[in-house]
Amino acid sequence: LIVPVILAGGSGTRLWPLSRSAFPKHLVELVGDSSLLQATAKRMLDVAPAERVVTIAAAGQAILVRRQLAELGSGFLSNLLLEPEPRNTAAAVALAAHQVKARWGGEAIMWVCPSDHLVLDVPALAEAARFGATVAATGRLVTFGIKPSRPETGFGWIAAGPALDIQAADGVHRAYEVERFVEKPPLAEAERMLASGAYLWNSGMFLFSAELLLSELESFEPSLAAAVSDVFATMQTSPDGLPDSIKFSQLLSTPIDKAVMERSRKIAVVPTDPEWSDVGSWRAIYDLLPKDANGNAVQGDGIVEGASNNLIRTEHRLVALAGVSGLAVIETADGILIGDLDDSNAVRGVVGQLVKAG
Ligand code: GDD
Ligand code: MG
Repeated sequence: LIVPVILAGGSGTRLWPLSRSAFPKHLVELVGDSSLLQATAKRMLDVAPAERVVTIAAAGQAILVRRQLAELGSGFLSNLLLEPEPRNTAAAVALAAHQVKARWGGEAIMWVCPSDHLVLDVPALAEAARFGATVAATGRLVTFGIKPSRPETGFGWIAAGPALDIQAADGVHRAYEVERFVEKPPLAEAERMLASGAYLWNSGMFLFSAELLLSELESFEPSLAAAVSDVFATMQTSPDGLPDSIKFSQLLSTPIDKAVMERSRKIAVVPTDPEWSDVGSWRAIYDLLPKDANGNAVQGDGIVEGASNNLIRTEHRLVALAGVSGLAVIETADGILIGDLDDSNAVRGVVGQLVKAG
């Protein structure tokens, strides 16, 4: 039994200054006439009815999230979990795991999906998920591996090991051991991994049984595991279904990739190519845009002279680039970013500084 779990509580910090926490990327209409969240929810219908899709989002965005999900079908509202504040994905995934275990049993396979991605080949993704679920049922934490095309510092990187002996019904997919999982490497290391040809990108989607996820978390982050279990209990008795906000605010804020994926020895990777893209960095958006003969992508009011391979995006003012290359120059009412197009993790660092400065 596959239970899709949609993570929809992030703020898209690598797209600063565009995505702000009040109106993050996954709720914005980027693809046709639906938001990335809606596109994600629709993709799940290939493997489960709407009533079996768990969505975990921020309470502060509840009105928008509810409205967007209801547009697709009221069934999507039956398992909507709301967090009083973002505590990153380890807490969110663990909370969802408790919900899945309580409703469908610990052996149910959770298919964790971020809501900030584009997938063009949806049938291929569903096929990979069904195979991934059979691998997960053998006691593995399954990741999807995407062939890398750039030294992206904003992703997790996976070194695949020997093939596992699990046959796919379609005869196409294979699963491999994972030798190493490196979350968000520095640029030099990303360049090395790309050049070696031995690494895949982590797509950010995972398949595992609720039981296994909870027991791995228990081994690596025991106090977080205990605290989430306690928080889940407070949700069962609270009149509005919200977790206790004080207890919630004390949860360790860490991504599932660092808490579990980098440490577990039960990871498997399934290489797949569903024409996936994380539209989570300026580089990813640059890749999707049309470019001039010198590789400049200009959205809005921009001019270039002797400049190549830049991304310009403007909202209010004219931006001119002269004699520079490889830059992301983003002008909004909130601020101006001038960054290395390839180092999306540095943009996240900028946001980190802003948060600290209040
Ligand atoms: N509910 C909830 N609560 N969701 C969250 C929270 C939270 O506190 N924080 C983030 N999310 C959601 C985001 O909205 C997104 O859909 C998903 O969880 C992943 O979080 P990101 O913050 O976007 O992660 P990332 O993109 O930096 O890294 C992950 O994805 C990469 C691929 O896109 C990692 O798994 C990387 O290893 C991976 O390569
Ligand atoms: Mg992301």
